[in-house]
Amino acid sequence: MNGTPALSARNLTKRYGPVVAVDDFSADIQPGEFLTLLGPSGSGKSTVLSMIAGFSAPDAGRLHLRGQDITAWGPEKRAFGMVYQGYALFPHMTVAQNVAFGLRMRGRPKAQIAERVRTVLARVRLDGFEDRLPRQLSGGQQQRVALARAIAFEPNLLLLDEPLSALDRQLRSEVQRELRELNRDLGLTFIFVTHDQDEAMSLSDRVAVMNNGRLAQIGTPADLYERPANRFIAGFLGQSNFFSGDVEEQRGDEVAVRVGGLRLLAISPERLQAGTEVTLTLRPERIAVGDAARSCANVVEGMLRSRTYLGSSIAIEAEVEGIGLLLSTAAAWAPDGGGGATAFGEGQPVALGWSAHAATLLSER
Ligand SMILES: Nc1ncnc2c1ncn2[C@@H]1O[C@H](COP(=O)(O)OP(=O)(O)OP(=O)(O)O)[C@@H](O)[C@H]1O
Ligand SMILES: [Mg+2]
Repeated sequence: MNGTPALSARNLTKRYGPVVAVDDFSADIQPGEFLTLLGPSGSGKSTVLSMIAGFSAPDAGRLHLRGQDITAWGPEKRAFGMVYQGYALFPHMTVAQNVAFGLRMRGRPKAQIAERVRTVLARVRLDGFEDRLPRQLSGGQQQRVALARAIAFEPNLLLLDEPLSALDRQLRSEVQRELRELNRDLGLTFIFVTHDQDEAMSLSDRVAVMNNGRLAQIGTPADLYERPANRFIAGFLGQSNFFSGDVEEQRGDEVAVRVGGLRLLAISPERLQAGTEVTLTLRPERIAVGDAARSCANVVEGMLRSRTYLGSSIAIEAEVEGIGLLLSTAAAWAPDGGGGATAFGEGQPVALGWSAHAATLLSER
C-alpha cells in the first residue's frame, strides 16, 4: 500500500450552519482499493462522498487525485462514476441510451459509443436488454444498468452511496458479488457508502467508520473487528460485552484486571500502571459455555437468563455477579454429536469461560 494514492483526502470539513457534518476527515485511498465508509445515519458518510464527487465544496481541507490537487475542480472534470441509492435511471430512455449517456456527454464518436455500450452491458450480464425501458426491468437489473452507466466512460473512481439499499436480501448478495468482481477485474478504485456492517465487512479491502462527522477508525475488516480502537467501534461492528475494571498487575503482556469481585486475565502489549481504569470488550462467540468453559484462563459462574435458538448458534444471556449480563453465542451443535449449548436450561447455573487473548483492552471507561 505504497506509492501515490488514487485519492487523498486531507482534513475535509463541512459545516451546515451550526451542524458540523464532517469534521477533519483524512484518508488515503490506494489504486484499485475497495474502501467503504460505514457509520450510523447522520454520521457524515454522504457528505464525505459528495465532497469527493465535487457536488459540495469543503469549508476546509484538500483533495488530491493521483497527487494532483482537485479541490477546485467541478464534478465533470473529476470524471468519477456514481451510483446512488435507488436507481435514478432516466425513465424515458432505453437501457442502451442510459448507458450511453455519459459517453454522449463527453462527445465520443457514435461507433465507439455503440461498441462500449455492448461491452459494459455484457460485463453486467445484460446483453439483450438494450431496448428495454427501466420500468420493464427488475430492481436488480435496474441497479446493474446504473452500474453499467457509471463504468461506461472508464471513470477515475467509482463512488457508490448505499446502492443496494432498495434491493431484497437475495438480490443484494448477487449485486454485491458483481461489485466485487467489477472492482477486481477492472482494477477500478471504489468508494462505497453503507450503514450495513455485514456488507462493509464482506465487500471491503478497508473500512472507514464514521461517527458524528468524525473518522472513528480506518482499517481492514479484521483490524476493526479484532482490534477496535474504542468502545464505539467494538459495539458498532458486531456485538460485544463490555466491562469496566482496574488493572491489578501486569506480567509480560498478561494483565490481571479487577472487575467487581472477579480477577480477569487479558492481554495488553502496552504497559499499564496498577490502578488504571480500563474497559474489557469480549465478543460473544469467544465465550465457551458449560464443560468447555472449565479449561479457560477465565472462568465465571452465571445464572442462565435466556436462551435463543438461532439455527447455526444459540445466544445465551447469563447473569454473572460483578459483571452483569454476559452474552455468549455458542454452537448449537457439538462436534461429538451432542446438543451443544441446547443442553443448558433457563434459570440454571452455567459456567462461562474465555482465554486471556479473547478480550480486548480499551483504555477508556
Ligand atoms: N444540505 C444539508 N443541510 C443541512 N444539514 C445537512 C445537509 N446535508 C447533511 N446535513 C447534516 O449533516 C449530517 C451528516 O449528514 P450525511 O447525509 O452526510 O449523513 P449520512 O452518514 O450519509 O447518513 P445516512 O446514513 O442517513 O444517509 C447530518 O446531521 C445531516 O442532517
Ligand atoms: Mg447518506
